[in-house]
Amino acid sequence: MKHAIGIDIGGTKIATGIVDAYGQVGPYQMIPTDTTASPMAVINEIEDIIKELLTEGDYSPKDILGIGVCAPGPLEARQGRITCPPNLPKWKDIPIVNLLQERLSTPVILENDANAAALAEKWIGAAQDSEHFIYLTISTGIGAGLFLHGRLVTGARGNAGEVGHMVIDPTQGICRCGQRGCLEWLASGTAISRMASEVMNRDLTAEDVFVLYRQGHEQIVPLIDQVFTYIGMGCVNLINLFDPEKIVIGGGVSQAGQPLFDAVRNYVHRYALNPSGRKTEIVPAQLKQHVGLIGAAALIFHHREEEPV
Ligand code: BGC
Ligand code: NA
Ligand code: ZN
Repeated sequence: MKHAIGIDIGGTKIATGIVDAYGQVGPYQMIPTDTTASPMAVINEIEDIIKELLTEGDYSPKDILGIGVCAPGPLEARQGRITCPPNLPKWKDIPIVNLLQERLSTPVILENDANAAALAEKWIGAAQDSEHFIYLTISTGIGAGLFLHGRLVTGARGNAGEVGHMVIDPTQGICRCGQRGCLEWLASGTAISRMASEVMNRDLTAEDVFVLYRQGHEQIVPLIDQVFTYIGMGCVNLINLFDPEKIVIGGGVSQAGQPLFDAVRNYVHRYALNPSGRKTEIVPAQLKQHVGLIGAAALIFHHREEEPV
């Protein structure tokens, strides 16, 4: 069977793995993202990992159809360049597609991380039966993949769906993208950790914060409820714009589970444009930690037959 290599470059970790034509992940490696390292050093490391994985799984070069790479935006997907993602501050104008193609002599395709995740959920996850859905990731950053009329919508340069930088409250602080009050500034995992650490006067990760939330901590509960409201607002804006059948929510913060989904569903049932928008289902992603890898591989397996619009 033919395989594809998937690379998921995230703000917190980088996953590299070999994926088969059914979306099953074989050998893979996960490393933390060193945000102080030069992109070239990171790309060298990824190249070494790929070689190790190929040896480990005993693959020959002809078993590999190509390499799919996904990364946070903004990027220039068709030109294969990561341009200036707020969550990878050192990655300025990196022609990752050319670099990997030269070193590994195999076709390489680049796509936004949330877009790739949308393809993965469509392929073998929560959106298999959907022609119109939005994948929303809430992790280090917030991003979305728009899948409409049976196709991934990428926009002119590959940056359609940058919902994390939709302005929710312009009276708030400055996001890593330079603008005030973005959804990402108010409701990402990074935002949750920042806001709770301020309130509690000690360093807390988003996971720590959710432990306190479940214990009913009196300062954390209103803070997280406000975060859920912001996510609800983001979903209502998306629903009113795109009229999807469902929104699939993934990323680390979606691990908050029931309280998040209840809050977002209530918000949508109350405020999405009446009546049709209120019918939009809000469902958890199915693919968890490998979603980016599988989506990156999907670029190789599906991209050519079906060029995204
Ligand atoms: C980026 C998006 C990305 C999201 C999740 C945001 O900061 O702008 O492109 O999908 O983070 O990584
Ligand atoms: Na996107
Ligand atoms: Zn922003």
